[in-house]
Amino acid sequence: MKVFPLQSIAVKVFHWINLFSVSVMLLSGLQIYNANPVFGGREGLHLPPILLLGGWLAGGRDWHFAAMTLFSVNLFCYGLYVLLSRRWKIRFVSSRDVKALQGENVKRKFYSWHRIAYTAIVPVLLIAILSGIGMYKSAQFDWIVKLFGDDWQALRIAHFMTVPIVLTFIPIHVLLALRVGQKKLIESMFW
Ligand code: HEM
Ligand code: HEM
Repeated sequence: MKVFPLQSIAVKVFHWINLFSVSVMLLSGLQIYNANPVFGGREGLHLPPILLLGGWLAGGRDWHFAAMTLFSVNLFCYGLYVLLSRRWKIRFVSSRDVKALQGENVKRKFYSWHRIAYTAIVPVLLIAILSGIGMYKSAQFDWIVKLFGDDWQALRIAHFMTVPIVLTFIPIHVLLALRVGQKKLIESMFW
């Protein structure tokens, strides 16, 4: 059964793989975090097992490094698709949204916030990749470490901060999608 509005298959596949791989990255990242919390070290705040994936530090790292390729390649292919299909022109933030936010049309304003939110999460995911690669292969990618002031703790904090940002983004994104397109829009992205 076709669900309206229609979304392209490529975007649905990106969205599914992204949702799955970000979830694995989050849960396994928090497992790594638990071994030596970025804030407060071994005495810092630890998270309950329900939020973790991998069972212990090495297990968490295995999951994290296994899913990172899927996560990055998927985002890269989506980026290519958005550029080549010129999707960025119609689906991403533009000056039209800035105008809409200054206007009176409430529906249009929500739609613009919705576009702003999902456009803004893409650079956050790119920062997760950049800082992650900086930590994963710091000798080979020392320019990334330098970009973060040659400071390991700054790199860890930048990487970790993508977690609360993604966790805040998800409910906002879902609520805005429901506000602008109800259940129909959500279904269109998944089926
Ligand atoms: C290609 C993408 C990524 C790469 C290469 C990567 C790589 C890494 C590396 C190397 C570590 C440190 C491992 C260690 O110290 O043994 C780490 C930790 C972590 N990662 Fe990622 N990561 C990526 C994406 C993500 C994403 C998308 C998230 C969640 C939004 C995430 C969340 C975390 C967390 C929470 C930690 C623990 C932070 C800490 O306490 O230092 N990572 N990641
Ligand atoms: C980490 C989690 C998520 C990220 C990074 C993310 C990211 C995105 C991005 C970048 C788009 C724009 C795609 C495009 O049009 O090219 C999008 C669209 C959409 N997402 Fe998500 N998403 C996430 C989770 C979710 C969840 C959990 C739901 C709902 C249960 C959802 C529902 C939707 C819907 C309905 C659209 C279509 C919006 C429209 O056509 O106006 N997303 N998402």
